[in-house]
Amino acid sequence: MAFNEEQFKAIKAEFVIDGERLQEIAASFRQDLQLGLRDVTLSSMRMLKSYVGLPSGKETGEYLALDFGGTNVRVSLIRLDGDGKFEILKRVGRPLIVPGQYDYICKDATAEQMFDFIAGLIDEAIDGDRNTKYYLGHTFSFPSTQTNLNNARLIIWTKEFATQGVEGEVANDLLSAALKRRGADNVEPVAVLNDTVAVLLSAAYKTPDTFIGSIYATGHNTCYLEPSIHDPDCFGSGGMILNLECGNFMKLMPNRFDKEYDERSEKPGEQRFEKMVSGRYMGELLGMAIAELLGEKGKQYNLSSIDMSMMILDESPNLSRATDILMAKVGHELALEDVKKVRELAAAIVIRSARLAAASFVAIVWQRAGSGKIVRQHVAVDGSVYEKMPLAKENIVKAMSELLGEDSSQVDTILDNGGSGLGAAIAAAMAVQA
Ligand code: BGC
Repeated sequence: MAFNEEQFKAIKAEFVIDGERLQEIAASFRQDLQLGLRDVTLSSMRMLKSYVGLPSGKETGEYLALDFGGTNVRVSLIRLDGDGKFEILKRVGRPLIVPGQYDYICKDATAEQMFDFIAGLIDEAIDGDRNTKYYLGHTFSFPSTQTNLNNARLIIWTKEFATQGVEGEVANDLLSAALKRRGADNVEPVAVLNDTVAVLLSAAYKTPDTFIGSIYATGHNTCYLEPSIHDPDCFGSGGMILNLECGNFMKLMPNRFDKEYDERSEKPGEQRFEKMVSGRYMGELLGMAIAELLGEKGKQYNLSSIDMSMMILDESPNLSRATDILMAKVGHELALEDVKKVRELAAAIVIRSARLAAASFVAIVWQRAGSGKIVRQHVAVDGSVYEKMPLAKENIVKAMSELLGEDSSQVDTILDNGGSGLGAAIAAAMAVQA
């Protein structure tokens, strides 16, 4: 059955954000930011305090870095040498879910099981050493309310995590208790931070003039250095980094696929921006569109963003790779013309995602500049979508230049690969060496 041309065009149009709309979204994001700075309850974003500003770049010493924010947990032992230099001395990692074997992120899993698993990984990183004192920085990439640099209480799980007994709890208390149960209390968590904050610290350690940090991966979120916030408990300089939790930005227009997906998600009504931008959801949106075109609305195909990227990258004349992926996931042998249309839809979903992310970056640049000039600066981004998804990076650049006009040469995006780990080590150093 060939796709209906009109229906295809209408669906594709739902994912297009034109220049005017892009301006409106950036303006609305900036306004939400301004509201939140006045009174956080007025913003749809959480705008969470991190209790850390920029590092000096002179931080030194060996630290453990726990990177916990997606399905893979990583622990690294990192030596900071100052002057933006560092070395990763050891790195271990393991997924929180191996289908058919274990699953620490589902509803049936408990906080103890999850944190015991993580403590085991930390133990592996230090080879069971019980004699050396280790300070640990913990990148915990979920919305959490902080009262200081080491205390972050999980507000709500995102990214479809559902483990019991973690929401409402202090992440490092759960971690310390698990380390204790394991007899590894020579490991002391001293800092906890969002992955966006970690990326900003990591990038700023190496590259001056970086004030915005973002994750563009399974999840999506951005933080920035807010110069007007001063707090005696804040480490570092330049004000305080605010973790926007902009995945929860609501003041934009979701299309009917976004709405439908949201309704059947783990947390309906939450993370609406993230559900339009991040890698966790792009494949789902594409699957919903394909189901309609195939006359099987409501059917779920489990298409991932990796499938999407492989289909977009397939430029062979007969699109054999894309056809095979669709056969395997959707269960139909599609005609070449229809596979082409699926690729177009996949591209439209990625481009929309990139344009939305770009609008949020520019809104923050505008906000930081106020009525003054936009200074030369970098936006540090880490994550698989930014790094690997075809069309993502180039469309961020394009949309930012559409929005910034003649100021666009002042702002660029830089990849900060692995910043989540390095940033955690830097935060630990800032806490210990202050
Ligand atoms: C979380 C953020 C995190 C982002 C990227 C979102 O789901 O709410 O805290 O920064 O994912 O990992």
